[in-house]
Amino acid sequence: MTANRQLCIGLSLNATWMKGEGWRHPDSGVEKMGSIDYYIDWAKIAEKSKLDFLFRADYLYVSPQMLGDSANFGSPDPTMMFAAIARETERIGLVTTVSTTFNPPYVVARQLQTLHWLSNGRAGWNIVTSIEGAENFGNSPMPSPQERYTKAMEFTDVVRKLWESFPNEAIIIDRESGIFSDKDKVAAVHHSGDYFSVKGPLTLSSHKSGTLPLFQAGASEVGRNFASSIADAIFAAMPDIESGVELRNDLRRRAAEHGRDPNTIKVLPGLYFFLADTREEAQELHNVAHAHLSIERRHASLRSVLGLDLSEFPSNQRVTADMLPDPNQPVRSRTHAELLRRYITKHQPTVEEVLARPEVVGSAHWVSVGTVEDVLNDIIERFEARAIDGFIALPGGSEKSMEIFFEKLVPQLVQKGLFRSEYMGETLREHLGIRSFSD
Ligand SMILES: Cc1cc2nc3c(=O)[nH]c(=O)nc-3n(C[C@H](O)[C@H](O)[C@H](O)COP(=O)(O)O)c2cc1C
Repeated sequence: MTANRQLCIGLSLNATWMKGEGWRHPDSGVEKMGSIDYYIDWAKIAEKSKLDFLFRADYLYVSPQMLGDSANFGSPDPTMMFAAIARETERIGLVTTVSTTFNPPYVVARQLQTLHWLSNGRAGWNIVTSIEGAENFGNSPMPSPQERYTKAMEFTDVVRKLWESFPNEAIIIDRESGIFSDKDKVAAVHHSGDYFSVKGPLTLSSHKSGTLPLFQAGASEVGRNFASSIADAIFAAMPDIESGVELRNDLRRRAAEHGRDPNTIKVLPGLYFFLADTREEAQELHNVAHAHLSIERRHASLRSVLGLDLSEFPSNQRVTADMLPDPNQPVRSRTHAELLRRYITKHQPTVEEVLARPEVVGSAHWVSVGTVEDVLNDIIERFEARAIDGFIALPGGSEKSMEIFFEKLVPQLVQKGLFRSEYMGETLREHLGIRSFSD
């Protein structure tokens, strides 16, 4: 069933392996996280394993939960981080996250094209509309999700137009005639819309390898519509297999409605794995990573995700659909809220089970705990069920967990023909199998 299909694999460099109490372990190596050398070392290991890309999620605010007992040296600008990593790697893709809610498109188009240029065609853009941070941009309160997406559509359109405004073919370099560039090929974009007014052209030419691949995160109705119209890959929150099959089918159907080949859109959930030599050790890693999440913190998270307060109920009480709040009330992320609503409606879990859900204790990502064989089987199961086209690895628990991933799990995927043993191309577009480079 998986014949000819291969997984697309990215590695998140957000140091998820230090989450919870894991960083407190004497040999966690947490002090190294404050230096770019640390990320470069992991980037090189990921490249040696021929991963498609490196990835960084990014937020433009500091949440109180990130301070105090949580390992956090602050959040450097991911595009600048990748500029440093670009010089230390050769083939692996570099997918940076940039919000369309808070930035000017001209600056973003230029920064992304610059990363593409200095990495020789390896940059990708993860388009996010953000959940918080408006007060840092004189834009408070946070615009509604609908408005953020309307802005994101116009923003992305402007960025693409700017990338086209100075095509690579405009560079001639003819010493004889003295013509350096063909000025007729460089054109203003004259964009005037609801949010942006941009004349153009961009200050630098597009890269000869073609446009940057676009990623997107956010899976509400409007988010899916947006993603299926423009994205090459979706960073998905996929706590279980059924939500994955539903999401992937839906995105593929919408892509076809937008006149696209559904096979050109890749659904890549975060895979938060806890790998160890035995199941018991892996479970212990998982426990340690979640040890800081007291019952009170879990209830607070549930209130924040869904607007549901279960703190007065006993832990064995079943939670049913009629206990859910009005679906139209504002929530931080409709993607996360909707995943949990659907789970509760379908399974009527106990309060205790709800408080252990990935939507409550994490970012709703797929969690896999166990030995190499356990996690491998989990990946194959989702791939064969066509819930995924690959995944973004979010190593959990310890550096050891990540080492096992690279030393044992990835080689097994290669052995089974599910992942490449060598890079076939030089650029991120080529790794992702994006064919033409004129779109
Ligand atoms: C899997 C996932 C990852 C996300 N990563 C980021 C991120 O790194 N930075 C950010 O500002 N917003 C991030 N978001 C928020 C989305 O961009 C979006 O603003 C939010 O989910 C609301 O959109 P929705 O109504 O479609 O859910 C993420 C959302 C999801 C589902």
